[in-house]
Amino acid sequence: MDLKITKSNQLKEKPAQDKLGFGKIFTDHMFIMDYETGIGWHDPRIVPFGPFTVSPATSVFHYAQAIFEGLKAYKNPEGEIVLFRADENFKRMNRSAKRMCIPEFDGEFVLNSLKELIKIDKDWVPSKEGTSLYIRPAIIATDEYVGIKASDHYRFFIIMCPVGAYYSAGFDPVKIWVTKDYVRAVPGGVGEAKTAGNYAASLYASEEASKKGYNQVLWLDGIEKKYIEEVGSMNIFFVIDGEIVTPKLTGSILPGITRNSVIAMAKKEGYKVREERIAIDDIINAHKNGKLDEVFGSGTAAVISPVGEIAYGDEKIVVGEGKTGKISAKFFDLLTDVQYGKKPDPFNWMIKVC
Ligand code: COI
Repeated sequence: MDLKITKSNQLKEKPAQDKLGFGKIFTDHMFIMDYETGIGWHDPRIVPFGPFTVSPATSVFHYAQAIFEGLKAYKNPEGEIVLFRADENFKRMNRSAKRMCIPEFDGEFVLNSLKELIKIDKDWVPSKEGTSLYIRPAIIATDEYVGIKASDHYRFFIIMCPVGAYYSAGFDPVKIWVTKDYVRAVPGGVGEAKTAGNYAASLYASEEASKKGYNQVLWLDGIEKKYIEEVGSMNIFFVIDGEIVTPKLTGSILPGITRNSVIAMAKKEGYKVREERIAIDDIINAHKNGKLDEVFGSGTAAVISPVGEIAYGDEKIVVGEGKTGKISAKFFDLLTDVQYGKKPDPFNWMIKVC
């Protein structure tokens, strides 16, 4: 397939790098590719960023047959632009595609197209500390049909935005609320796919968390409501008595690429890492016994986010006096030093764009 490029003749003004926030400002161009049963993925192109004109009958609006990814590009001290583990994002996207009956695509071709897109919009990659270019690939079902079936048409698109911290608290500890009433995913469901509906289903509880003064929801398993799964936009890690513990991937948890990276880094640093089912009661007990050293989340958008407080019913766990712990800070530095090219990349995670 040939990638067709049409450049914009109306470039937008770039935002100030100290006022980026997250996800509201978009670069000048985007990638698009379409699919039709019998033809396959076709017509890959880079075009000026702009709206799609679609029928109100478009199937994704009704049945949420949609998947997405989140990854980032960084500017290193040499002024090069690099991607973090982008190949893994496209592998995971293909796994999500399979689960959602969306046709799989050539991950290598899309990664190369993304590199071309970034080269065209390279002046949008911010360089200020803590900033990056957030990349959002997505596939939506585009049949004009209100019956329920897997679509025969799809649109793949990639849009990009220069970003700062995901949470309004910046990289300060976040407060999370454990819901006893709602669940995010159940065994056999779509919890491990990065599909739009998982996030729509989380909004009601997120609103409740927000009204109570918490940043995000910590989800428990969908059957017993006993075992910890993940937080709204990140996977979760506990440091208990010096060991690192994270919920094991049971099929209803998003297999985070940052999660996988933290585990690899922790093992390399000599920490004992356990991936296992973790009951919320065990965390409460660890805290009562003075063994809950730290809690932090991991995600592309969230990076490493220390957790300062967890609320569960009448229990309120204040972790490390609500301040960022040493191990959370260490992982933040280990990860971001590699991502921003400040330190060597022992795992060969970084992919040079230009
Ligand atoms: C990411 O971390 O990239 C995600 O996709 C989470 C999203 C809900 C912001």
